[in-house]
Amino acid sequence: MSLRLGDTAPDFTAETTEGTINFHEWLGNGWGMLMSHPADFTPVCTTELGSVGGLKTEFDKRDTKAIVVSVDSVDDHNKWSEDIKETQGCAVNFPIIGDPDRKVAELYDMIHPGEGDTSTVRSVFIIDSNKKIRMTLTYPKSAGRNFQEILRVIDSLQLTDNYKVTTPANWQDGDDVIISPALSNEEAEKHFPNGWNELKPYLRMTKQPNK
Ligand code: BEZ
Repeated sequence: MSLRLGDTAPDFTAETTEGTINFHEWLGNGWGMLMSHPADFTPVCTTELGSVGGLKTEFDKRDTKAIVVSVDSVDDHNKWSEDIKETQGCAVNFPIIGDPDRKVAELYDMIHPGEGDTSTVRSVFIIDSNKKIRMTLTYPKSAGRNFQEILRVIDSLQLTDNYKVTTPANWQDGDDVIISPALSNEEAEKHFPNGWNELKPYLRMTKQPNK
């Protein structure tokens, strides 16, 4: 059965480029991004892992640790990391799970046989500090992911966990947000004393509360 938003992220113990990791222990009290790539020594994956490495300070700001998996061996991951560093100008600064027996890939339903072979597709799971899955994303092997978009969703999740707001289409940190439709105007006045712009009774725009 596939994993859904709100499910507890399945725990596992696996060999990685940073030694043996128990996933839940490794996450600690922070957030995590578990993502799969199809194969080592392939072009799109090389750019993707370089991109994640280059965004380490951005993931750190969001208390989010990245961890990557494919069905290749740890040995291959280590050799390929040299290529990533050389071609992408950024060292791999996160663990890569060696999963030749497909334990993690199957636990997270990352193998989609209709996509050509038995390697993992481009899956992403964002996991919060309670180990709950908060976002899933699946891209085909041919399309590299947009990691700015993943950071944007983490921003939205962390904001909306703390304030009674939701974020509109194409929202970026600092833009106006939507007052939760669950709040009456009387309740909204307590939470948003500076007011809002009511476009429709269900669409009330306000300044981002933590800015
Ligand atoms: C790539 O990373 O370029 C790639 C890997 C597997 C299938 C297609 C593309």
